[in-house]
Amino acid sequence: MKILNARCTSKARLDGKIAVITGANTGIGKETARDFYRRGARVILACRNIEKATAAIEDIKCNPFPSRRMQKIEDKNGLGDLEVCSLDLCSFKSVKECAKKLMKEPAIHILVNNAGIMFAPYQITEDGFEIQLQSNYLGHFLLTLLLLPKMQSSTPGCRIINVSSLAHIYGKIHLSDINLERSWWYFRPWKAYFQSKLANILFTKELARQLKEAKISGINVYSLHPGVIKTELSREFHSTIVPGATFFFNYIMRPFIKNAEQGAQTTIYCAIDEKTANETGLYYSECCVTNPKGVNDQKAQDLWNYTCFLLRLETNENFSTLLETVTRQLDK
Ligand SMILES: NC(=O)c1ccc[n+]([C@@H]2O[C@H](COP(=O)([O-])OP(=O)(O)OC[C@H]3O[C@@H](n4cnc5c(N)ncnc54)[C@H](OP(=O)(O)O)[C@@H]3O)[C@@H](O)[C@H]2O)c1
Repeated sequence: MKILNARCTSKARLDGKIAVITGANTGIGKETARDFYRRGARVILACRNIEKATAAIEDIKCNPFPSRRMQKIEDKNGLGDLEVCSLDLCSFKSVKECAKKLMKEPAIHILVNNAGIMFAPYQITEDGFEIQLQSNYLGHFLLTLLLLPKMQSSTPGCRIINVSSLAHIYGKIHLSDINLERSWWYFRPWKAYFQSKLANILFTKELARQLKEAKISGINVYSLHPGVIKTELSREFHSTIVPGATFFFNYIMRPFIKNAEQGAQTTIYCAIDEKTANETGLYYSECCVTNPKGVNDQKAQDLWNYTCFLLRLETNENFSTLLETVTRQLDK
């Protein structure tokens, strides 16, 4: 697995750019933040745990370079700026409050929808959705639509990155049972994770199409599989798979899986590399375009329409009107 270890080789600088990364207090998100900071960006860590996010900022500031070797070859000057914004994707109220604060930024050039949970036990959020569906997909859908007007005014060169997973290949979108609760006693946490990660890719495809149809240029959308990486993502494994599964994944598998810095490379590639500047709506793995499974235009549109219905948005509105409707929710 680790043999697949492509790196983003771009030397692009992000001076004057503003990037928002969800779930950036640890794992892939934190390493993405470290990279953007090193390239001179103002990086906003949108996190639910402010203490952890503040500690992550301290760590990034103290160690902006992941290795000594890199420190020698890269310019030590021109570091960026780091900020925390409170965001709990499991609460639409929190998503709106976060968006409201972010709209006060002079611009948003990069949005990395990275936060996620995996194989969490059955739980319904305060908004009435299965927890993995809302954290991994619905919360990011709403956040993205709320931030789009700001990104529109920050064009050209804006990018939205949705961190998905190869696990999407096992996914199916259950439009008639999106919370997978018809048989809640038989709820399988992995089914919910696979569905949410397929949704990330379908969202990417349809958002790119909607932007194109609305003639909104200068905002590209990407989805990706980051690899298999030792992070905190396996925290629920011991309770929902089998006792010892978290330990097995983190320690026994360690030689075969990536570290978080390696795991951030495809995200960084999509977010900043010159080679992807003119691509949109595609899915990447190992810094390369790849074909996702179970993805087509019809499925992407069906999920988009159903998500709008779930968020009480009119699906027959054109995209620009839809954005205005969502934005009005910020004043409520
Ligand atoms: N690691 C892998 O092998 C792998 C493979 C394929 C895909 N991915 C994807 O990569 C992304 C990043 O995962 P990771 O491996 O870096 O995992 P991680 O170390 O567990 O990081 C996940 C981040 O998401 C945050 N988060 C979770 N729920 C949230 C919520 N409701 N609101 C706001 N933030 C929330 C976590 O915050 P807290 O610290 O507060 O919990 C944490 O900062 C995920 O989307 C995951 O599905 C990872």
